[in-house]
Amino acid sequence: MAGTYKNYLKLLEAWPVDKYKPGRDLGEYIRDRIKLEFSTNKVRSQAEKEECDRNYVSLKKISSNHYAKLYPRKLNSSGTGLSYEQCSCILSPEILENYQRQKQLSEKVYTRPHKPVMVNEVIKYLKPSAGETFVDMTFGAGGHSTRIIEFAPNIKIYALDRDPVAHNYAKIMAEKYPGQVIPLLGRFSELPALLKEQRVLPNSIDGFIFDFGCSSMQFDVAERGFALSKDGPLDMRMDGFRCPDEPTAADVLERCTEQDLARIIKYYGEEKQYKKIARALIEARYMFKSLKTTKELARLVESVLDKDFRTDRLGRFAHSATKVFQALRIFVNNELNEINYAILIAEKYLKINGRLITISFHSLEDTVVKRHLSGNITDNAANTSSMRFQNYGKTFSHSQVVDMTESPWRMFHKHVILPSDEEIDENPRSRSAKFRAIAKVK
Ligand SMILES: C[S@@+](CC[C@H](N)C(=O)[O-])C[C@H]1O[C@@H](n2cnc3c(N)ncnc32)[C@H](O)[C@@H]1O
Repeated sequence: MAGTYKNYLKLLEAWPVDKYKPGRDLGEYIRDRIKLEFSTNKVRSQAEKEECDRNYVSLKKISSNHYAKLYPRKLNSSGTGLSYEQCSCILSPEILENYQRQKQLSEKVYTRPHKPVMVNEVIKYLKPSAGETFVDMTFGAGGHSTRIIEFAPNIKIYALDRDPVAHNYAKIMAEKYPGQVIPLLGRFSELPALLKEQRVLPNSIDGFIFDFGCSSMQFDVAERGFALSKDGPLDMRMDGFRCPDEPTAADVLERCTEQDLARIIKYYGEEKQYKKIARALIEARYMFKSLKTTKELARLVESVLDKDFRTDRLGRFAHSATKVFQALRIFVNNELNEINYAILIAEKYLKINGRLITISFHSLEDTVVKRHLSGNITDNAANTSSMRFQNYGKTFSHSQVVDMTESPWRMFHKHVILPSDEEIDENPRSRSAKFRAIAKVK
């Protein structure tokens, strides 16, 4: 392979970066990929070697302007002298696939990366040290993972996310840190199967991090249907099109009974006017047939609660439909059950003294974590009410109480940690964050 690498270098020397074509210089992109590819000493199969040689021949033809007659250079040509479409005809499908993916990501996703919340606290309590292994359960754009991996050498991170957009970010990070970042596409509840494929055993992980809720890439893209400030289809599936049979928010509004809608809005939105809203949603079915867009839903809820003026914790205007949107999102993505199950999974895979970090954004998420912390769990589910209110008239023996409240967890700090004022100013999304750092002690 050393010979092939030298050939590539010679070729690239004759192919200088065209600084007048920023972002359109395919040569620069290929140069970076080659550097990355040859920066590791991985053993290559015969097929990979042949692939490498084929790519070399393609690149040589392009750089020597072999296709000048067929594809004359034009104003919209890339740094190679060819337009993207022309390159498509020449390059191997593998190079193109990568180029296309990178191009889409840089255009669509990198335009607005997610800003990670409470990163300093994550590092302080997770204390990553050389050679340790972590699971980032909510990879998103990889803000937390990046800080963790850069903090100490030889760290390994299993990067899980259910969203294919976030999974693509994880793949890019995996290219930057080969062998250190392992992208996993799936939900919390799918983690045991994914870890099994990677031959990861229980009691072998040093730390888990959960940064619950949605990412900016989900909120900021109108087509995902999460934000009431952007008009888009009422989708709200974090899995995107990964699971086409999963019901969207529009499906829920179209098919649920009035009683179920009321329950969803009451429990997952903590909305006091749940009955009024559920009634209006059912009436809307007769009026417009079905609610299809975020704006239609926002307007409908607004019209029901028209005299209700609401503000958020920073005193800013909050739309009256905010809680209904939260409720639908939690229901569509089965978020609270996922969190409950995820804490059980973390317990199974963490080593003794392994660390668990949770960052939650509303009281429902935080409550599930707290129940696990206090050992208030029955049949593997966090109880919704305190134990002392559960069995009226029954008295428990000391050992029964110990049994029921025994918790494998111990919190590193006494009270929940909140973001600093400076962080809230800089990143308003952090305003409702609640941070807990917990150790597995049993
Ligand atoms: C707030 S973002 C995380 C941002 C990330 N910490 C960063 O720094 O970029 C939450 C992410 O968790 C993912 N997520 C939420 N629930 C999940 C679940 N049950 N299984 C897997 N991923 C989930 C979402 O798709 C989203 O990308």
